[in-house]
Amino acid sequence: MPKFAYFKGGFVSIQDAKISIMTHGFNYGTGCFEGIRAYWNGEEEQLFVFKLLDHFERFLRSSRILLMALPFTAGQLADITLELVRKEGYREDTYIRPLAYKADEVVGVRLHNLRDEVAIFATPFGRYIEREEGASAAVSSWRRIDDNAVPARAKITGAYINSALAKTEAVLNGFDEAIVLTCDGHVSEGSAENLFIIRDGALITPPVTENILEGITRKVIIELAREELGLEVVERPIDRTELYVADEAFFCGTGVQVVAIAHIDRRPVGAGQIGPIVKMIRDLYFDIVRGKVTKYLHWCTPVYTSAP
Ligand SMILES: Cc1ncc(COP(=O)(O)O)c(C=O)c1O
Repeated sequence: MPKFAYFKGGFVSIQDAKISIMTHGFNYGTGCFEGIRAYWNGEEEQLFVFKLLDHFERFLRSSRILLMALPFTAGQLADITLELVRKEGYREDTYIRPLAYKADEVVGVRLHNLRDEVAIFATPFGRYIEREEGASAAVSSWRRIDDNAVPARAKITGAYINSALAKTEAVLNGFDEAIVLTCDGHVSEGSAENLFIIRDGALITPPVTENILEGITRKVIIELAREELGLEVVERPIDRTELYVADEAFFCGTGVQVVAIAHIDRRPVGAGQIGPIVKMIRDLYFDIVRGKVTKYLHWCTPVYTSAP
């Protein structure tokens, strides 16, 4: 359990970081959030936060869509986060959750003329999907929210009912994860992660206009695949049945990290186990996020200036 939170402009005990049942964000889902991971590197006795600034830049973009004008820069939010994690003193993999929400205790659905608050907590966290090396996925009967209804580009708290419906359907049906189609029937993403398939050695992923969250991990993978692995990466719409004929497939995201998909709708993906390209990407990703690759150390922010 975390001991502290950033709440109402300062650091408080986690027990004191409470909102009212009347809080607007709780009633109407009028908030946005981030999910950030920090990785413990035992050799260096250091906790590295991955892509810290990128997350807060997206956080501020989400908040703008919700008509918020938060009085912070991404850099200021990053500094608050580092101070919070330092106070916790974690020496293990950690998940950081910043939230911005409409804080007034009033009845009435809207975005305007409401006070915004920022809260942050950080908690130890392991795997999001247990079978990271070969998960099973099912195409969901739920469709992905549409940009003109609930914008998926913003990480909006209320929008996650769409993810929850898809995830629960998949898990209760015996699968690890859902693959959600757009209303047009193209592949969008997983319930809380982006998706890539591999065909003939090329990575293919839906473009940002397919109602995906513009994933930070997705961007990292695209860059690494091109720059480090010399692979072709194509952003284009994906048909459902391309999932069934792909050589390899994987989910990626801060929470799921890089998860190989071994089966989709009970059909084996390739050989029905993690393939060589996904394995390479996974290995490289985990080395980088733990701060083990000098070239990409600038993606990792150290939490501690001296040993915790
Ligand atoms: C719906 C959805 N798609 C994709 C992602 C992956 O995004 P990122 O790599 O920025 O964590 C997430 C997780 O944050 C998500 O919730």
